[in-house]
Amino acid sequence: MKIEPVINGVVARTAHPAGCEQAIKNQIEIVSRSKPISDGPKRVLILGGSSGFGLAARIALTFGGANADTIAVSFERGPSEKGVGSAGWYNNIYFKQQAQTKGATAVNIIGDAFSDSVRQQVLDAIETQFNGQVDLIIYSLATGVRPKPDSDELWRSSIKPIGESLTGASIRLEDDVWQETELPAASEQEIIDTQKVMGGEDWQSWIDLLINKDAIAPNCQSIAFSYIGPECTHPIYHQGTLGRAKVDLHQTSHAINLKLAPFKGGAYACVCKALVTKASVFIPTFAPYVLALYKTMKAQGLHETCIEQMQRLFNSKLYPHPIVDGERLIRMDDWELKHSVQQNVSALLPQLTADNFSQLGDYHGFKTEFLQLNGFAIDGVDYQQDYTLEQLQALRP
Ligand code: NAI
Repeated sequence: MKIEPVINGVVARTAHPAGCEQAIKNQIEIVSRSKPISDGPKRVLILGGSSGFGLAARIALTFGGANADTIAVSFERGPSEKGVGSAGWYNNIYFKQQAQTKGATAVNIIGDAFSDSVRQQVLDAIETQFNGQVDLIIYSLATGVRPKPDSDELWRSSIKPIGESLTGASIRLEDDVWQETELPAASEQEIIDTQKVMGGEDWQSWIDLLINKDAIAPNCQSIAFSYIGPECTHPIYHQGTLGRAKVDLHQTSHAINLKLAPFKGGAYACVCKALVTKASVFIPTFAPYVLALYKTMKAQGLHETCIEQMQRLFNSKLYPHPIVDGERLIRMDDWELKHSVQQNVSALLPQLTADNFSQLGDYHGFKTEFLQLNGFAIDGVDYQQDYTLEQLQALRP
């Protein structure tokens, strides 16, 4: 079979193995010619390491100067009669192949990061591969659900405004259609549940577990990713349910920071730039802002994708010493929030409509990045190649 892109709404149903391999190589190439990370960590645990920021962090830390060994946890689907599997599945496979070529350890643990069995697999891997301790823990899970401990029930997140309803446009990647959307305000329960899923509680429980198991190395750091954004995005993000969860994440970073202090370590929330990822395309009414932002940042020579954000985080903002703002946040959104960028975005954004968004905004860049996340639209890849299920299943993460 040939593998073609299949998109339902904003969800990719297929992924291209050779494209994912090439995407990993391209990212390695980017970090290899960037300013190297100095005094970086050697043993890194990444929760959510198969795509987006987590994968980019893994590539940057192994190939961008720190030569780190990594253990990455992810929730991905392998090939079966039902489909070819998810991009993250192939990213895990090809990252590991590249890391091994360089002589670096790369362990892939695939399963639910909230489960006891995955926690135990991580502890075992730290014991056997890392001599019992980690130097950096990256919390980069993006999910819509979290199981309630010791129960069959789930907390489910809702991406909604708080207080008032909101109207805006979302873009269906499946057929490039701009859709006016109305979002009701979240209920109190939805606010609480979203915080349970995307706030800091689970991050803290991982750190508690690692402290209890003596797995924290001297100077160990931990980071998690957040978003704040300019005022025009606040109703759907910063002042909405997701923003509430991120405030909780920021507060948790202070609590974890105290817990890591006896190890001379620290914990930080890193506020990143708005980018196209598997998770972010789910945020309703957010796409028009991203189109205006991409158009502007590319024109001003400031555009970064996940890989450039992560390399800059590690080579300039976390190592050799963390650089934080007045609220102890690491600001990777500094270029996004530049006056020149936001001035242009606020002029462009109100002009975007269903008829002109692909000309006035950078819809081409947005869609191409989305396809590339899934291994499509990548130069140098033979998309005519035939695969059999057996061939795909022989690739092991
Ligand atoms: P992503 O969807 O690309 O990656 C999420 C990762 O979490 C994947 O590796 C996935 O396999 C893993 N995962 C999800 N559920 C899991 C589970 N139950 N068990 C194990 N692994 C699981 O998402 P992205 O965008 O990289 O998000 C990572 C973090 O960055 C999130 O906290 C997000 O809010 C934050 N962020 C994202 C921004 C964006 O524009 N994409 C901007 C600023 C922050």
